[in-house]
Amino acid sequence: MTEQPAPLTGVVVVGSVNADLVARVERHPAPGETLLGTSMVVLPGGKGANQAVAAARRGAPTAMVGAVGSDAFAEPALVGLRAAGVDLGAVVVHDGPTGIAVVTVAADGENTIVVVPGANARLDATAVTAYDERVAGAAVVVVQGEIPRSGTERAAALTRGRLLVNLAPVVPVDPAVLRAADPLVVNEHEAALVLTSLDGGAPTTLRSPADEDRVASRLLAHGVPSVVLTLGARGALVARAGHAPVRITAPRVRVVDTTGAGDAFVGALAAGLAAGDDLVAAAHVAVRVGTFAVGRDGAQPSYPGLDDPLPPDA
Ligand code: ADP
Ligand code: NA
Repeated sequence: MTEQPAPLTGVVVVGSVNADLVARVERHPAPGETLLGTSMVVLPGGKGANQAVAAARRGAPTAMVGAVGSDAFAEPALVGLRAAGVDLGAVVVHDGPTGIAVVTVAADGENTIVVVPGANARLDATAVTAYDERVAGAAVVVVQGEIPRSGTERAAALTRGRLLVNLAPVVPVDPAVLRAADPLVVNEHEAALVLTSLDGGAPTTLRSPADEDRVASRLLAHGVPSVVLTLGARGALVARAGHAPVRITAPRVRVVDTTGAGDAFVGALAAGLAAGDDLVAAAHVAVRVGTFAVGRDGAQPSYPGLDDPLPPDA
């Protein structure tokens, strides 16, 4: 009897884990200036970790492939993943610093962010290969732009399930990764940059729904199997080869904090796909999860669990 391959299950996020050091200030300091801040908190962050927390909160068995440092920021960076029940067996501890984002938030809500990758810079092809069976066993593998290119490319090559590529920030990757992205999830700015990276054209400004449709179909024409454009308060656009694009309107909410809304969307989308939902159905839920998250403070603490009532479909 030939052995059946094990069924693909759950979500594996191959990505960044950070501690966010958030200082509140009246206004941002000028170069050379020292200001007194009004408060300081250390919060778990990093796009990879945020997405893993969002997926786990939506009920998907979720594992993180990532790296933290040997410093005092490793535990604060992992606290949200632990609370959400994410499998941390493939998070490696390296001698040296944990990834850090230094954030200042001014009274008017404007922020500045400096990201120092720390241990995330060690998540290269060799590091990902050490967990090849985990990646290959996932129903959905999620990658973003915050780890070395070789790590992302290796994760994509190992994927046997569905590959969700959130190219944020937009960084160079092998076009083969984009041709395997089902879906590619990008916001409007990222979509324009990815197109430029693919065809060398000038960045396109997306001013109208027709522009959005056109950019999505140009991405499909480059061989991307499916594209989800996130459109902030307007929701999302789902485009698949051979289908008319589908627009999903976001419910209206009072906006409290949009930090990590895109990550909430990606994690929820991955969870839906891992549960067997089709892309449009999963995106419907992801839009409402993103909207839920902007209505509450913080990134990870604002992600809804299965018991939290999502806003009704708009
Ligand atoms: P990013 O943070 O990556 O730029 P978006 O701003 O497109 O991502 O937001 C991702 C998702 O979060 C949107 O698709 C939507 O569901 C939700 N969202 C974001 N901003 C708002 C808003 N102002 N009102 C309602 N939902 C929002
Ligand atoms: Na939030």
